[in-house]
Amino acid sequence: MRKASSQASLADADDFDLTRLLNHKPRINVERQRSFDDRSLTSELSLSGAGTGTASRGGWGYGGGAMERESYESMYSPGGGLRSYCGTPASSTRLSFEPHPLVGEAWDALRRSLVNFRGQPLGTIAAVDHSAGEVLNYDQQVFVRDFVPSALAFLMNGEPEVVRNFLLKTLLLQGWEKRIDRFKLGEGAMPASFKVLKDPKRGVDKLVADFGESAIGRVAPVDSGFWWIIILRAYTKSTGDMTLAETPMCQKGIRLIMNQCLAEGFDTFPTLLCADGCCMIDRRMGVYGYPIEIQALFFMALRCALLMLKPDAEGKEMMERIVTRLSALSYHVRSYFWVDFQQLNDIYRFKTEEYSHTAVNKFNVNPESIPDWLFDFMPSRGGYFVGNVSPARMDFRWFALGNCVAILASLATPDQASAIMDLVEERWEDLVGEMPVKICYPAIEGHEWQTVTGCDPKNTRWSYHNGGSWPVLLWLLTAACIKTGRLKIARRAIELAEARLARDGWPEYYDGKLGRYIGKQARKFQTWSIAGYLVAKMMLEDPSHLGMISLEEDKAMKPVLRRSASWTV
Ligand code: GLC
Repeated sequence: MRKASSQASLADADDFDLTRLLNHKPRINVERQRSFDDRSLTSELSLSGAGTGTASRGGWGYGGGAMERESYESMYSPGGGLRSYCGTPASSTRLSFEPHPLVGEAWDALRRSLVNFRGQPLGTIAAVDHSAGEVLNYDQQVFVRDFVPSALAFLMNGEPEVVRNFLLKTLLLQGWEKRIDRFKLGEGAMPASFKVLKDPKRGVDKLVADFGESAIGRVAPVDSGFWWIIILRAYTKSTGDMTLAETPMCQKGIRLIMNQCLAEGFDTFPTLLCADGCCMIDRRMGVYGYPIEIQALFFMALRCALLMLKPDAEGKEMMERIVTRLSALSYHVRSYFWVDFQQLNDIYRFKTEEYSHTAVNKFNVNPESIPDWLFDFMPSRGGYFVGNVSPARMDFRWFALGNCVAILASLATPDQASAIMDLVEERWEDLVGEMPVKICYPAIEGHEWQTVTGCDPKNTRWSYHNGGSWPVLLWLLTAACIKTGRLKIARRAIELAEARLARDGWPEYYDGKLGRYIGKQARKFQTWSIAGYLVAKMMLEDPSHLGMISLEEDKAMKPVLRRSASWTV
């Protein structure tokens, strides 16, 4: 293990396994990949004999109902894909449609953002914006979460090498000893970002990583490890190359990440307790506690890990822990985070101060804490997972990333997934407006902004993380649309983005209630805005790509539905 402060570098010795692995060409094995993906969670669930937690009437319940679908089933079969088990070759993507003029421009910009390490592409820089004159740290960094849409774009285009290099290098970074002052971080932690620097003495590239010790607010990125696992699964699914995920290095990396979030403590809930700003919203925004973004990513990473872990001595034990947690987590989120019209009405009528097991209002949420805006916002058709649930606290804000990932991971039941899309449709002005997609809704202002953000001048109302619109989220919305068969919504959103994005220089975010204004401090040529657009386009043109980033529903985890009155309206 290498000792590392934020200035530590990665020396040659670290590359021992990497060189071997990098020289190894991915082996495409269709048959093996089929069995890899067919290892459904349902069959894994029998592994420990752990109950699947099929919920009898419990929790707060949720609604359900069949919504109109477009005929996507004919194009896409989750978990398998009709077109190919080996991902979609670049040629088929290119031949199947007349590319929009923006696509070529976006590819050029994406390639310009590539970062090399000792002659090999390793990731993409967060932004290639030279217009501002100020070159912040930010512009040279490869952020793990920002690389996700880049990784998907390259995989969809049949260029897996950069993704493979990224996965291996970040894995080596995980092995560093991570400290903030005198405190040592967990072994599984993955960096938020890293950059490549030239070592002036030796004239070779070295890496400098940040695990939170340099980040604003000193928060460790809880999402990085989850995204790493999700990218590894996307790589495996797309290339059919299982050898990477099966290496002892990768198996260990997965186990370390899992170990860190499955550790037992004083928790009374299966959700993961986090500090504020530990995910895409990386500044204080009242997303501490049990934010939906982390819970949805946690769930997806657990499921992806289960698909990739080898059932050897160490792996098997981990798989059993994962299965148990998945069951508890899905039950908890589906039951307690869900709100629709009926559910809101139930909470509105909650009694408080209930003690013992018979309590209905388990977390003692005071109905007076329901914000006024929600009564008008909640449509009679539709619903969503709220931002956070903890004792006496429900954060009713809508967060786009958490809800979209919940759909992709099948944390949302099919009925919940349809209801989320209904909400997006019904509240289009609020949640999409003129630029997809609003990161959260609504913005907080006034006294609440002061106390919740600590008077953060970057997060003023309807700006940045506080109700700003982030083009990167377009790929997640599009993926969720394809999965739920709501292609019209995706097309509409992509059209909106196309009208402005390139003209405005691919900004990082937009401001304003409708997202009409380029963000106050937004970078231009923000890589994930570019890659997010490309991924959305490619998925819509060839929906079989969705299999890389989507998991089919696991029937065994489905709790009993309580039909909510809102579905009969
Ligand atoms: C901002 C975003 C964060 C992103 C980073 C780099 O800090 O909030 O999610 O990773 O910029 O683009």
